[in-house]
Amino acid sequence: MNLLPDHEIYKSIGGEGLARLVAAFYRQIPSDPILGPMYPPDDLPGAESRLRDFLAFRFGGPATYIEQRGHPRLRMRHAPFAIDQAARDRWMLLMDQAMEEAAIPEAPKAILRQFFAATATFMINQPG
Ligand code: HEM
Repeated sequence: MNLLPDHEIYKSIGGEGLARLVAAFYRQIPSDPILGPMYPPDDLPGAESRLRDFLAFRFGGPATYIEQRGHPRLRMRHAPFAIDQAARDRWMLLMDQAMEEAAIPEAPKAILRQFFAATATFMINQPG
């Protein structure tokens, strides 16, 4: 049972908590052998704010993402990247590490983790 509804996550960890989480995730990207080469090296701060704004919108915060990017269409937006099981698992590993580093409390962490795991699986677009 989820004691904390999705739309209260933003209130619970705050914009600052989300910013900490996403910064901790992106700090690991440049040196990652699987994910590093996929991300735009000259626009990591832009990528960081896109993920941060998306999560704020999805979990009860401001709708900045929608205003700037429109409908998320996440699977379509990930189509240019070859995402297999290994890339999906690495994304989850880095996000799990980021949640520890950002000290996200247990209740919101459990909900975020469930969402990340399901969404990451949905992004797989390559066999193997
Ligand atoms: C499964 C492994 C994943 C890989 C390899 C991956 C990779 C990428 C890459 C390379 C980008 C482009 C960076 C940019 O310029 O914005 C991106 C964008 C993005 N990703 Fe992922 N991603 C994965 C999973 C996820 C998951 C689980 C979520 C949801 C929490 C997510 C949310 C986003 C968002 C919101 C953007 C920006 C979309 C836009 O507005 O253009 N990704 N991802």
